[in-house]
Amino acid sequence: MKLEMQKSEPPEISSKNQEFRKKGNSPICDLAHLSVSPASPQVSAFKFQASSSSSPLLPILLKEIDEAGGAIPFRRFMELALYHPELGYYASGRAKIGKEGDFFTSVSVGRIYGRLLASICREAWELLGTPSEFTIIEQGANDGTMALDILEALTESNDACAAALRYLIVEPFSLNRERQQQKLAAFSRVSWIASLEELSCFSGIHLSSELLDAFPVDSLRWNGESWEEEVVAAPDDQLCWKTRSVSDPDLAMAAALLPTNLATGFRVEVNPGMRPWLHSLHRKMDRGLILTVDYGQSGEDRYAPHRADGTLLAYQAHQRFDDPLPEPGLRDITAQVDFTTLGRQAREEGFEILGYSDQHHFLVGAAEPWLRSLGDLLGGSTPNTQKDLRSLQTLLHPSTMGSQFKAIAFGKNFPASPQLSCFKFQRPGVEVL
Ligand SMILES: C[S@@+](CC[C@H](N)C(=O)[O-])C[C@H]1O[C@@H](n2cnc3c(N)ncnc32)[C@H](O)[C@@H]1O
Repeated sequence: MKLEMQKSEPPEISSKNQEFRKKGNSPICDLAHLSVSPASPQVSAFKFQASSSSSPLLPILLKEIDEAGGAIPFRRFMELALYHPELGYYASGRAKIGKEGDFFTSVSVGRIYGRLLASICREAWELLGTPSEFTIIEQGANDGTMALDILEALTESNDACAAALRYLIVEPFSLNRERQQQKLAAFSRVSWIASLEELSCFSGIHLSSELLDAFPVDSLRWNGESWEEEVVAAPDDQLCWKTRSVSDPDLAMAAALLPTNLATGFRVEVNPGMRPWLHSLHRKMDRGLILTVDYGQSGEDRYAPHRADGTLLAYQAHQRFDDPLPEPGLRDITAQVDFTTLGRQAREEGFEILGYSDQHHFLVGAAEPWLRSLGDLLGGSTPNTQKDLRSLQTLLHPSTMGSQFKAIAFGKNFPASPQLSCFKFQRPGVEVL
């Protein structure tokens, strides 16, 4: 959850109906193969000069915009801003999560989040018939905190579940991988791959927290008659929004599924990386489930009037910026997840939706056995338990993390009943998808 402390400058004014030549699609899901210009000195020969921005990525963006004929799709801008191999916010190692960083996530609230996910993993292992090999795959593991919390919880008792466990992290960036390796040095059955392409067939669970909101998105605006694409241009070396008609066939197909009874100027984001991500996982999964937790919404809620300016935001030092264009590479950029589209695409890929819930009801279900086990012991509980309970309160809070975050799970050859405990109290539930 990006807990915002301060609202910043308003979005830059977009101008409409301008046509620009467009760059081809760039890889979205597979960051290991991100294609970029090098962050090298030859950039200085380029006709644009870096503006007053302190972003070292700016000259690279200006060059790419120029080569593309004056504008690039927003998804390409976001891809470079977050994942340029040397200067992207996530690839450079600049991303910091938690109190001293740029934003909080559920993982950074405390170890209880990982411990509750560990209890879901154990339950999934049981529902799969306690197989002798069970793989937990985590994607978007950042510094490895959630992996540590899960592994500590699952290996506390030296039982059959701990013996069956393999933990695999999908990590495209070497700096992150090094941080994760240091943090997880005490655990022997952890391994790494750079992308889902390297994944072998597996049975188990794929976990992610705030992964999909970090996938590069396209931005569309309703002009009263049709959807137009919002692209990034740079007249006078200043990054700014422009609109053009939609020419990319995939984007045109995505636009055709959007509602048209919206106010003129309504913005939405389309996440083209979700479908290939689901496709890869369905192809590689033998038996198991995907569980992903992120902020976003489903159905009509996505098109509520207060979302008329879209859901793109940038974060830096716990400040929220409504315009994601300034300071590329120095700020996180996110777009909320469209759970209706995610659910539809998962079904189309062949998954069954096992549950869909806000974080409040999801974690209450997951925490119930632990809360019961505390019982009368509470008076004499340990400092760790007290800390866990305080973290849980933050994670559950119905006006912030408890309602804005959603958990969704997709199964393949996974028993539909008994239901996973975490979806026992689910709201709004699978029916809305
Ligand atoms: C908002 S952070 C969330 C970090 C962590 N899961 C948490 O909740 O605290 C998003 C993370 O997803 C990673 N990421 C984005 N796309 C990815 C991909 N295709 N494969 C692996 N990691 C990816 C980013 O590098 C970043 O570490």
